[in-house]
Amino acid sequence: KKTIHILSIESSCDDTGAAVLENNKVLSNVIAGQKIHEAYGGVVPELASRAHQQNIVPVVDQALKTAGIEKEQLQAIAFTKGPGLMGSLLVGTSFAKSLSIALNIPLIPVNHMQAHVLAHFIAEETQSPPPFPFLCMTISGGHTQILKVSAYDTFEILGETIDDAVGEAFDKTAKLLGLPYPGGPLIDKYAKKGKPEAFSFSEPKTPRPLDFSFSGFKTSILYFLQKEQKKDPSFIENNLNDICASVQRSIVTILMNKLKKAAEISGIRHIAIAGGVSANSEIRSTLKSMESQLGWTTYIPKFEYTTDNAAMIGIVGYLKYLDKDFGAENTVATSRLDI
Ligand code: KG4
Ligand code: ZN
Repeated sequence: KKTIHILSIESSCDDTGAAVLENNKVLSNVIAGQKIHEAYGGVVPELASRAHQQNIVPVVDQALKTAGIEKEQLQAIAFTKGPGLMGSLLVGTSFAKSLSIALNIPLIPVNHMQAHVLAHFIAEETQSPPPFPFLCMTISGGHTQILKVSAYDTFEILGETIDDAVGEAFDKTAKLLGLPYPGGPLIDKYAKKGKPEAFSFSEPKTPRPLDFSFSGFKTSILYFLQKEQKKDPSFIENNLNDICASVQRSIVTILMNKLKKAAEISGIRHIAIAGGVSANSEIRSTLKSMESQLGWTTYIPKFEYTTDNAAMIGIVGYLKYLDKDFGAENTVATSRLDI
Protein backbone atom coordinates (compact mmCIF):
# COMPACT_ATOMS: atom_id res chain seq x y z
CA LYS A 1 0.00 0.00 0.00
CA LYS A 2 1.28 3.45 -0.93
CA THR A 3 2.26 5.77 1.91
CA ILE A 4 0.23 8.98 1.83
CA HIS A 5 1.26 12.16 3.61
CA ILE A 6 -1.46 14.74 4.13
CA LEU A 7 -1.17 18.20 5.66
CA SER A 8 -4.39 19.34 7.31
CA ILE A 9 -5.50 22.78 8.47
CA GLU A 10 -8.19 23.69 11.00
CA SER A 11 -9.31 27.32 11.47
CA SER A 12 -13.07 27.22 12.06
CA CYS A 13 -13.19 29.05 15.38
CA ASP A 14 -10.47 30.36 17.68
CA ASP A 15 -7.78 27.67 17.40
CA THR A 16 -5.30 27.54 14.53
CA GLY A 17 -4.32 23.92 13.90
CA ALA A 18 -2.09 22.04 11.48
CA ALA A 19 -1.29 18.34 11.41
CA VAL A 20 0.58 15.87 9.26
CA LEU A 21 -0.77 12.36 8.85
CA GLU A 22 0.95 9.34 7.35
CA ASN A 23 -2.01 7.31 6.17
CA ASN A 24 -4.26 7.05 9.27
CA LYS A 25 -1.42 7.79 11.70
CA VAL A 26 -0.77 11.22 13.19
CA LEU A 27 2.85 12.37 12.82
CA SER A 28 2.23 15.84 14.25
CA ASN A 29 -0.73 17.81 15.59
CA VAL A 30 0.00 21.44 16.39
CA ILE A 31 -2.51 23.85 17.86
CA ALA A 32 -2.25 27.55 18.70
CA GLY A 33 -5.03 28.74 20.98
CA GLN A 34 -6.09 32.35 21.31
CA LYS A 35 -5.92 33.73 24.83
CA ILE A 36 -7.25 37.07 23.65
CA HIS A 37 -10.92 35.95 23.86
CA GLU A 38 -10.80 35.15 27.59
CA ALA A 39 -11.21 38.79 28.52
CA TYR A 40 -14.30 39.15 26.32
CA GLY A 41 -16.21 36.18 27.71
CA GLY A 42 -16.48 34.59 24.29
CA VAL A 43 -14.87 34.39 20.87
CA VAL A 44 -14.66 37.75 19.06
CA PRO A 45 -14.78 36.84 15.33
CA GLU A 46 -12.73 39.82 14.12
CA LEU A 47 -9.94 39.10 16.62
CA ALA A 48 -10.06 35.38 15.81
CA SER A 49 -9.42 35.87 12.09
CA ARG A 50 -6.56 38.27 12.79
CA ALA A 51 -4.93 35.75 15.13
CA HIS A 52 -5.32 33.00 12.51
CA GLN A 53 -3.45 35.25 10.05
CA GLN A 54 -0.59 35.56 12.51
CA ASN A 55 -0.54 31.91 13.50
CA ILE A 56 -1.12 29.97 10.33
CA VAL A 57 2.38 29.99 8.83
CA PRO A 58 4.28 29.23 12.07
CA VAL A 59 1.76 26.49 12.98
CA VAL A 60 2.09 24.80 9.58
CA ASP A 61 5.90 25.09 9.73
CA GLN A 62 5.89 23.53 13.17
CA ALA A 63 3.62 20.67 12.05
CA LEU A 64 5.91 19.82 9.12
CA LYS A 65 9.03 20.11 11.25
CA THR A 66 7.68 17.91 14.05
CA ALA A 67 6.56 15.31 11.51
CA GLY A 68 9.96 15.42 9.80
CA ILE A 69 8.25 15.86 6.45
CA GLU A 70 9.18 18.31 3.67
CA LYS A 71 6.41 20.16 1.80
CA GLU A 72 7.44 18.35 -1.36
CA GLN A 73 6.60 14.98 0.22
CA LEU A 74 2.92 15.90 0.72
CA GLN A 75 0.28 14.19 -1.43
CA ALA A 76 -2.68 16.43 -0.49
CA ILE A 77 -3.88 19.32 1.66
CA ALA A 78 -7.05 18.97 3.71
CA PHE A 79 -8.75 21.97 5.30
CA THR A 80 -11.92 22.87 7.21
CA LYS A 81 -14.52 24.19 4.78
CA GLY A 82 -17.17 24.76 7.48
CA PRO A 83 -19.16 25.14 9.62
CA GLY A 84 -17.58 27.95 11.60
CA LEU A 85 -16.83 31.65 11.65
CA MET A 86 -16.48 32.96 8.09
CA GLY A 87 -13.45 35.19 8.76
CA SER A 88 -11.66 32.33 10.48
CA LEU A 89 -12.52 29.74 7.83
CA LEU A 90 -11.28 32.06 5.07
CA VAL A 91 -7.77 32.15 6.50
CA GLY A 92 -7.37 28.36 6.44
CA THR A 93 -9.19 27.98 3.12
CA SER A 94 -7.08 30.58 1.31
CA PHE A 95 -3.87 29.22 2.76
CA ALA A 96 -4.75 25.62 1.81
CA LYS A 97 -5.72 26.63 -1.73
CA SER A 98 -2.53 28.59 -2.29
CA LEU A 99 -0.32 25.80 -1.03
CA SER A 100 -2.13 23.18 -3.11
CA ILE A 101 -1.54 25.29 -6.23
CA ALA A 102 2.09 25.93 -5.32
CA LEU A 103 2.77 22.22 -4.72
CA ASN A 104 0.41 21.04 -7.46
CA ILE A 105 -1.36 18.54 -5.18
CA PRO A 106 -5.08 17.97 -4.52
CA LEU A 107 -7.14 20.03 -2.13
CA ILE A 108 -9.61 18.23 0.17
CA PRO A 109 -12.42 20.25 1.80
CA VAL A 110 -13.57 18.79 5.15
CA ASN A 111 -16.76 19.23 7.16
CA HIS A 112 -15.66 20.12 10.72
CA MET A 113 -18.50 18.19 12.38
CA GLN A 114 -17.81 15.04 10.36
CA ALA A 115 -14.18 15.43 11.42
CA HIS A 116 -15.08 15.45 15.13
CA VAL A 117 -16.84 12.09 14.60
CA LEU A 118 -14.26 10.54 12.29
CA ALA A 119 -11.43 11.37 14.71
CA HIS A 120 -12.29 7.88 16.00
CA PHE A 121 -10.64 6.46 12.86
CA ILE A 122 -7.23 7.87 13.70
CA ALA A 123 -4.95 4.87 14.30
CA GLU A 124 -4.41 4.29 18.03
CA GLU A 125 -2.67 1.45 19.80
CA THR A 126 -5.19 1.45 22.64
CA GLN A 127 -8.50 1.33 20.78
CA SER A 128 -9.84 0.03 17.50
CA PRO A 129 -12.31 2.23 15.58
CA PRO A 130 -16.07 1.70 15.94
CA PRO A 131 -17.77 -0.65 13.45
CA PHE A 132 -20.64 0.71 11.30
CA PRO A 133 -23.32 1.50 12.23
CA PHE A 134 -22.50 3.24 15.49
CA LEU A 135 -24.05 6.09 17.43
CA CYS A 136 -22.05 9.24 18.08
CA MET A 137 -23.08 12.02 20.41
CA THR A 138 -21.29 15.13 19.13
CA ILE A 139 -21.08 17.69 21.88
CA SER A 140 -19.25 20.95 21.34
CA GLY A 141 -19.49 24.70 21.69
CA GLY A 142 -21.69 24.92 18.62
CA HIS A 143 -23.37 21.52 18.34
CA THR A 144 -25.26 18.89 20.28
CA GLN A 145 -26.40 15.96 18.18
CA ILE A 146 -26.93 12.24 18.35
CA LEU A 147 -25.90 10.73 15.04
CA LYS A 148 -26.27 7.32 13.50
CA VAL A 149 -23.11 6.82 11.48
CA SER A 150 -23.52 4.14 8.80
CA ALA A 151 -20.42 4.89 6.69
CA TYR A 152 -17.62 7.47 6.53
CA ASP A 153 -19.94 9.76 4.62
CA THR A 154 -23.37 8.72 5.90
CA PHE A 155 -24.66 10.52 8.98
CA GLU A 156 -28.27 10.51 10.15
CA ILE A 157 -29.28 13.02 12.83
CA LEU A 158 -31.44 11.14 15.36
CA GLY A 159 -31.72 14.12 17.70
CA GLU A 160 -30.21 17.56 18.23
CA THR A 161 -30.52 20.67 20.31
CA ILE A 162 -33.44 22.94 19.58
CA ASP A 163 -31.63 25.96 21.08
CA ASP A 164 -28.20 26.22 22.79
CA ALA A 165 -25.40 23.69 22.43
CA VAL A 166 -24.23 21.83 25.53
CA GLY A 167 -20.85 23.62 25.37
CA GLU A 168 -22.76 26.90 25.60
CA ALA A 169 -24.59 25.59 28.67
CA PHE A 170 -21.20 24.95 30.29
CA ASP A 171 -19.67 28.24 29.14
CA LYS A 172 -22.68 30.42 29.98
CA THR A 173 -23.03 28.85 33.41
CA ALA A 174 -19.33 29.49 33.97
CA LYS A 175 -19.84 33.11 32.99
CA LEU A 176 -22.66 33.43 35.55
CA LEU A 177 -20.18 32.10 38.11
CA GLY A 178 -17.64 34.76 37.12
CA LEU A 179 -15.27 32.29 35.41
CA PRO A 180 -13.36 33.20 32.20
CA TYR A 181 -14.12 31.84 28.73
CA PRO A 182 -14.19 28.97 27.88
CA GLY A 183 -15.58 27.92 31.22
CA GLY A 184 -16.33 24.26 30.44
CA PRO A 185 -12.91 22.94 31.51
CA LEU A 186 -13.05 25.06 34.70
CA ILE A 187 -16.45 23.69 35.70
CA ASP A 188 -14.97 20.22 35.17
CA LYS A 189 -12.02 21.15 37.41
CA TYR A 190 -14.04 22.64 40.31
CA ALA A 191 -16.66 19.89 40.07
CA LYS A 192 -14.01 17.35 41.10
CA LYS A 193 -13.91 18.97 44.56
CA GLY A 194 -17.67 19.45 44.98
CA LYS A 195 -20.77 17.47 45.94
CA PRO A 196 -22.94 16.71 42.90
CA GLU A 197 -26.04 16.19 45.11
CA ALA A 198 -25.74 19.65 46.70
CA PHE A 199 -28.22 21.33 44.35
CA SER A 200 -30.60 19.97 41.76
CA PHE A 201 -31.66 21.33 38.40
CA SER A 202 -34.51 19.82 36.47
CA GLU A 203 -34.18 18.12 33.10
CA PRO A 204 -35.59 20.24 30.25
CA LYS A 205 -38.47 18.76 28.27
CA THR A 206 -38.35 18.63 24.47
CA PRO A 207 -41.18 17.90 22.00
CA ARG A 208 -39.17 15.10 20.36
CA PRO A 209 -37.60 12.54 22.73
CA LEU A 210 -34.05 12.57 21.30
CA ASP A 211 -33.77 16.36 21.01
CA PHE A 212 -32.00 18.55 23.56
CA SER A 213 -32.80 21.96 25.02
CA PHE A 214 -30.34 23.96 27.10
CA SER A 215 -31.62 27.54 27.04
CA GLY A 216 -34.20 26.92 29.77
CA PHE A 217 -31.61 25.03 31.77
CA LYS A 218 -29.26 28.00 31.71
CA THR A 219 -32.09 30.34 32.76
CA SER A 220 -33.00 28.10 35.68
CA ILE A 221 -29.40 28.31 36.90
CA LEU A 222 -29.49 32.09 36.57
CA TYR A 223 -32.69 32.31 38.69
CA PHE A 224 -31.27 29.87 41.23
CA LEU A 225 -28.10 31.95 41.63
CA GLN A 226 -30.04 35.23 41.88
CA LYS A 227 -32.29 33.79 44.57
CA GLU A 228 -29.41 32.39 46.62
CA GLN A 229 -27.32 35.54 46.27
CA LYS A 230 -30.17 37.62 47.66
CA LYS A 231 -29.90 35.57 50.85
CA ASP A 232 -26.10 35.37 50.82
CA PRO A 233 -24.10 37.74 48.58
CA SER A 234 -21.06 35.41 48.79
CA PHE A 235 -23.11 32.35 47.80
CA ILE A 236 -21.11 31.69 44.63
CA GLU A 237 -17.64 31.94 46.14
CA ASN A 238 -18.68 29.93 49.20
CA ASN A 239 -20.23 27.14 47.11
CA LEU A 240 -18.33 27.21 43.82
CA ASN A 241 -17.24 23.56 43.88
CA ASP A 242 -20.71 22.28 44.84
CA ILE A 243 -22.43 24.44 42.21
CA CYS A 244 -20.05 23.21 39.51
CA ALA A 245 -20.44 19.58 40.58
CA SER A 246 -24.24 19.86 40.64
CA VAL A 247 -24.52 21.64 37.28
CA GLN A 248 -22.16 19.15 35.69
CA ARG A 249 -24.02 16.17 37.15
CA SER A 250 -27.30 17.56 35.77
CA ILE A 251 -25.82 18.04 32.30
CA VAL A 252 -24.28 14.56 32.30
CA THR A 253 -27.62 13.07 33.35
CA ILE A 254 -29.43 14.90 30.53
CA LEU A 255 -26.89 13.69 27.95
CA MET A 256 -26.83 10.10 29.17
CA ASN A 257 -30.62 9.78 29.32
CA LYS A 258 -30.88 10.87 25.68
CA LEU A 259 -28.08 8.56 24.64
CA LYS A 260 -29.74 5.60 26.41
CA LYS A 261 -33.00 6.36 24.61
CA ALA A 262 -31.19 6.56 21.26
CA ALA A 263 -29.48 3.21 21.89
CA GLU A 264 -32.81 1.66 22.85
CA ILE A 265 -34.68 3.01 19.82
CA SER A 266 -31.93 2.20 17.30
CA GLY A 267 -30.80 -1.07 18.85
CA ILE A 268 -27.19 0.04 18.39
CA ARG A 269 -24.73 -0.74 21.19
CA HIS A 270 -21.53 0.77 19.78
CA ILE A 271 -21.56 4.25 21.25
CA ALA A 272 -19.08 7.08 20.65
CA ILE A 273 -18.75 10.65 21.84
CA ALA A 274 -16.96 13.48 20.04
CA GLY A 275 -16.40 17.23 20.20
CA GLY A 276 -14.94 19.60 22.77
CA VAL A 277 -17.34 18.70 25.57
CA SER A 278 -16.34 15.03 25.28
CA ALA A 279 -13.16 16.15 27.07
CA ASN A 280 -15.29 16.38 30.22
CA SER A 281 -14.04 13.89 32.80
CA GLU A 282 -17.46 13.00 34.22
CA ILE A 283 -18.96 12.44 30.75
CA ARG A 284 -16.02 10.17 29.92
CA SER A 285 -16.23 8.11 33.10
CA THR A 286 -20.03 7.87 33.04
CA LEU A 287 -20.03 6.69 29.44
CA LYS A 288 -17.34 4.13 30.26
CA SER A 289 -19.46 2.78 33.12
CA MET A 290 -22.24 2.02 30.61
CA GLU A 291 -20.09 -0.81 29.25
CA SER A 292 -20.73 -2.95 32.31
CA GLN A 293 -24.16 -1.47 33.07
CA LEU A 294 -25.74 -1.73 29.63
CA GLY A 295 -23.37 -3.90 27.62
CA TRP A 296 -22.31 -1.03 25.37
CA THR A 297 -18.94 -0.84 23.66
CA THR A 298 -17.90 2.77 24.05
CA TYR A 299 -15.51 4.92 22.02
CA ILE A 300 -14.01 7.86 23.85
CA PRO A 301 -11.63 10.04 21.86
CA LYS A 302 -8.10 10.64 23.03
CA PHE A 303 -8.07 13.92 24.93
CA GLU A 304 -6.17 15.85 22.22
CA TYR A 305 -8.74 14.87 19.58
CA THR A 306 -11.77 16.10 21.55
CA THR A 307 -11.47 19.88 21.24
CA ASP A 308 -10.74 21.48 17.89
CA ASN A 309 -7.60 20.10 16.24
CA ALA A 310 -6.21 19.50 12.77
CA ALA A 311 -5.53 15.76 13.15
CA MET A 312 -9.28 15.10 12.88
CA ILE A 313 -9.34 17.13 9.64
CA GLY A 314 -6.40 15.04 8.43
CA ILE A 315 -8.10 11.69 8.98
CA VAL A 316 -11.10 12.81 6.93
CA GLY A 317 -8.61 14.04 4.33
CA TYR A 318 -7.06 10.58 4.22
CA LEU A 319 -10.41 8.77 3.93
CA LYS A 320 -11.47 11.12 1.12
CA TYR A 321 -8.08 10.76 -0.57
CA LEU A 322 -8.62 7.00 -0.79
CA ASP A 323 -11.95 7.71 -2.53
CA LYS A 324 -10.32 10.37 -4.77
CA ASP A 325 -12.93 12.74 -3.36
CA PHE A 326 -11.10 16.02 -4.05
CA GLY A 327 -12.31 19.61 -4.00
CA ALA A 328 -12.37 21.95 -6.96
CA GLU A 329 -10.18 25.05 -7.19
CA ASN A 330 -13.24 27.22 -6.72
CA THR A 331 -14.28 25.53 -3.43
CA VAL A 332 -15.42 28.13 -0.91
CA ALA A 333 -15.62 28.30 2.88
CA THR A 334 -19.18 27.93 4.22
CA SER A 335 -20.14 29.15 7.67
CA ARG A 336 -23.23 26.92 7.75
CA LEU A 337 -22.75 23.33 6.65
CA ASP A 338 -24.89 20.33 7.55
CA ILE A 339 -23.19 17.14 8.65
O1 KG4 B 1 -15.19 21.23 19.73
P1 KG4 B 1 -14.77 22.49 20.38
O2 KG4 B 1 -13.31 22.69 20.71
O3 KG4 B 1 -15.18 23.73 19.51
C1 KG4 B 1 -16.38 23.77 18.82
O4 KG4 B 1 -16.39 23.24 17.67
O5 KG4 B 1 -17.35 24.28 19.41
O6 KG4 B 1 -15.65 22.65 21.71
C2 KG4 B 1 -15.47 23.71 22.59
C3 KG4 B 1 -16.40 23.53 23.79
C4 KG4 B 1 -16.44 24.75 24.71
O7 KG4 B 1 -17.80 25.05 24.99
C5 KG4 B 1 -15.71 24.26 25.97
O8 KG4 B 1 -16.14 24.89 27.14
C6 KG4 B 1 -16.07 22.80 25.96
O9 KG4 B 1 -15.96 22.43 24.60
N1 KG4 B 1 -15.19 21.99 26.80
C7 KG4 B 1 -15.58 21.39 27.95
C8 KG4 B 1 -14.43 20.75 28.49
N2 KG4 B 1 -13.38 20.98 27.64
C9 KG4 B 1 -13.87 21.75 26.61
N3 KG4 B 1 -16.78 21.33 28.54
C10 KG4 B 1 -16.86 20.64 29.69
N4 KG4 B 1 -15.80 20.02 30.28
C11 KG4 B 1 -14.60 20.03 29.71
N5 KG4 B 1 -13.57 19.40 30.29
ZN1 ZN C 1 -15.26 21.75 17.00
